[in-house]
Formats: sequence, structure tokens, C-alpha cells
Amino acid sequence: MITQRETWGTRAGFILAAAGSAIGLGNIWRFPGEAYEFGGGAFLLPYLFALLTAGIPLLLLEYTLGRKHQVGPPSVYRQISKPAEGIGWWQNAIAFCLSTFYAAVIAWALSYTYFAFSRGWGDQPVDFFVGDFLGAGGNLDFFEFRWPIFAVLVGVWVLVLTIMLGGIRRGVELANRICIPLLMVLFGIIVVRAVTLEGATEGLNAFFTPEWSRIGEAEIWLGAYAQIFFSLSIGMGTMIAYSSYLKKKSELSTTAVTVAFANSSFELLAGIGVFSILGFMSVQAAQPIDGLVGTGGGVAFITFPTILNEMPGGAFIGVLFFASLAVAGISSLISIVIVPMTSVEDRFGWSRKKTVAYLGVPMAIVSLLIYPTANGSSMVDAVDFAVSGYGLVLGGLATIILAFATGKLKSLAAEANRTSVLKLGNVWYACLGLTAVILTIVLFLNVKGQIEDLSDPEVANELVYINWGVGGAMIVFGLVMTVILYKRPLPVREEAEPEPALDTE
Ligand code: PHE
Repeated sequence: MITQRETWGTRAGFILAAAGSAIGLGNIWRFPGEAYEFGGGAFLLPYLFALLTAGIPLLLLEYTLGRKHQVGPPSVYRQISKPAEGIGWWQNAIAFCLSTFYAAVIAWALSYTYFAFSRGWGDQPVDFFVGDFLGAGGNLDFFEFRWPIFAVLVGVWVLVLTIMLGGIRRGVELANRICIPLLMVLFGIIVVRAVTLEGATEGLNAFFTPEWSRIGEAEIWLGAYAQIFFSLSIGMGTMIAYSSYLKKKSELSTTAVTVAFANSSFELLAGIGVFSILGFMSVQAAQPIDGLVGTGGGVAFITFPTILNEMPGGAFIGVLFFASLAVAGISSLISIVIVPMTSVEDRFGWSRKKTVAYLGVPMAIVSLLIYPTANGSSMVDAVDFAVSGYGLVLGGLATIILAFATGKLKSLAAEANRTSVLKLGNVWYACLGLTAVILTIVLFLNVKGQIEDLSDPEVANELVYINWGVGGAMIVFGLVMTVILYKRPLPVREEAEPEPALDTE
């Protein structure tokens, strides 16, 4: 028997937490690089298409599943169909991998916030990041720890696990009430400063100029869907977990639209900020933007410090930039870590204290053993690709297929419509169906491309293998859990207490 679980304190509390989950490293660290790599302005078209036809509909599906069943993802899927429980455990494995490296990137951002005060990266930011900071020597040396990063990463985990111990209202909700307004102020200042820099227009032109010739490439479409899934935190059960703490009468549709647009606006704003600053650099150095943009860590931890060295007031902007990266990251990390916590609590009847001790602490230890080492950044790249490039998209596809295959979509729409302002119906079904078809095609073409690449000696095959290894292991974990737990019924929960009459929702 497990006791009645907590609910969000207010509607605003849930919206802030869902937005806090969505707005994260993906918006500032991932989006600008992806958009640029995938054809600038031309990327925005598949991106918008994916947002409207896949992002918002799937967000609604996950909200509805969570609110309806009021349990973590594996228990939700099991209630839909017993063998489907594995989808939930597979998503847990994805969350586990994601949390371990996500925390590491937050630790980098925090370290760089400190360096920014004195521009401690010196005048060779590339050598500093790769050599002095990460100590990456190119050879795979596990257990060669970078103690300063290790110490900061310990701090990140202590903070996140403490928030977990606080529960929903006094932990997650409170943290987001602090993080989101803080982030808006910090980032707002950066964008205003950025667009007024000399050369900003050059940067924005590079960002928005569409390369239409590339619009037909499967890679670009997968890139757009992957960015939407990652950025909206869907496909991994995060939104199922968060909405399982909603009251049964909470409104869902306007919440989903608000969160989705808040997230994409922030993402575009981050792109504008980052590219204005790149434009400044390109004018100063009389170099085309092309050579300045790296993907992933490159822009934030290498290009930015280089620019900040040149920029009047660079130290100040640097502190704001890296601090906002860290703050945005923390509120998302909370929502990643909560997936396994909620799942295990609801499936095995554990208390929060027990899950933090027996699940949270081991997660922190894995993260600490892998990422603050000389291999840290290669591992971040490899796991990021398996998780963000494929994992979430496949996870979301599985949820959609399950809803169709079990014929549950209609009843789920009815469940959502019970309280929703915008009614779910044929358009919703059509969008989910279309998403399933597109994702299947795009994933097939991409895997085919990867297999073809394997015969190309120019391509680094180890990364492909690490990717498939990590991806495969996560799926196997889901299958194993399904078999082990097949006969074990879900724990029974105590009857809900009547909600107080004077509720504002
Ligand atoms: N949405 C987060 C970001 O943009 C990452 C995330 C993905 C969080 C999946 C939770 C689940 O950085």
C-alpha cells in the first residue's frame, strides 16, 4: 500500500515547472548550433512543422496519460497494456543516461561562470577548454579525474537531490519559481546587449538565411524532430511524470500551448543572442561566420570565450551567459531525475527518501565516474547523440504507436476534453498519425545512412558503435524489466482524500 501522492500547489507552479523542464541546455547550447548546421533559416520550417504537428500533440498525449493515471511512466504503460511496461523502463534508461551527462555540462557551465569573472580561460580558449579544463588527450583514459570539475559536479548532484527530497511543492515547484524568473532577467540582459553590438546584423543574416536546397534531406528532418523532442522534454516520460502530480481537474490544452510557445520563443531568442554575438566576432576578426560555429560544446565553451575576450564588458556578459546556462540546466535536470524517482516510487511503493538514497545517489556516482575524466567530452558527444538524436524520438514514436494499437486515443481525448479549453479530436489524431509515419520514414533513412557510412574509412566508426551500444542497451533494459515484473501487480494506493473546496484551480 502506498500513500496518497503530492500535487502541484498551483496551476502556475505546474506551468513554470513544465517550462523549466523544456527551457534548458537544449535551447542555449544545442539549438543555435543545430539550426546553423542544418541550413539556417531553412531549418526553421521543419522545426515549426515538427513543433505544431508533433511537439504540441505529443505534449498533450503525455500530459493526459500522466494526469489520468497519476503514476510514473512504467505503471502508466502497464495499465494500458501489460507488456508495454517496458517502454516506461526503457525511457527510464534514457533518463538515466541523459541525467548523467546533462549534470556534467551544467558543471562545466558553473566552472565557466567562475572563470568569466577574470576571463580565466586566457587568450587560447580552445587549448584551455580541451587541454587545461577537460584534460582530453585523445586517448581513452578512464579514471583520470579532473578534480575541479569533479568537485563542481558533486555540488550539482547535492543540489538536485536536495530538491528531490523537498518533494513537489517545496522542492521542484520552489526551485522553478526561483530559476525561471532569474533566467529571464539574466538572458534578457544578454540579448539586449547582443543585438546592439556592431556586426549583429551579419550574425542574424547568417542565422536566418535559408539554404533551401537542403530541405529535402532526411537528416535535417530528423534533426528538427529531435530538437523539438529534446527541447520540449517529450518522448522520455518526463511530462508523464510531471503531470502525474496534477489534480484530476487541471486544464491541459492551454497549458501545453503556453509551454510550447514559451519554449520556442526562448529558443529563438537564444539563437538571436548567440548569432548576434557571432556576428560581432566575425566583423572584429574579419572572418566569415562559417568558421566560427562549432556544434554542441564548441559554441558555448570555445567560441564564446574567444569573443568575450574581445568584447567591451565581456566579463560581465560572460558571467551572465554561463550563469544562465547553469540555471536553465538545473531546472531541466530536476525534471530528468524525477522520471526514475517517480517510476520506482509508484512501481515499488518506495518513499522519496529511499529513492534518493538507492537510486539518486548511484546516478550521481555513475555521472561522477564517467564525465569529469579525460574522456568526459567524447562521452558527452557519444551519449548525447544516442539519447537526443534517436532515443527521445523513438520513445515518442513508441508512445504514439501504443496509443493507436490499443485503440485508446479516443478515450484519452475524452479524458483530456473533460477539462480542456481546446478540444482534442480529429486534428489531434491526424497529427499523431502523421508524426508516426514521418518518424518511421526519417528514422529508417537515417539508420540506412549510418550503415552506409560504416564502409567509409573517413567516418569515425567507434562513435557509431558506442551509439548503437548505448541505444541497444537501453532497449534491452526495458525488455528485461518487462519480463522480470510481468507477474508482479502494481501496488494499491490509499483512497484519495477529498480535495479542499476552496481550491483556485
Ligand atoms: N528540454 C531540456 C532542454 O532543452 C532537456 C530535456 C530533455 C529535459 C528531455 C527533460 C527531458 O535542455
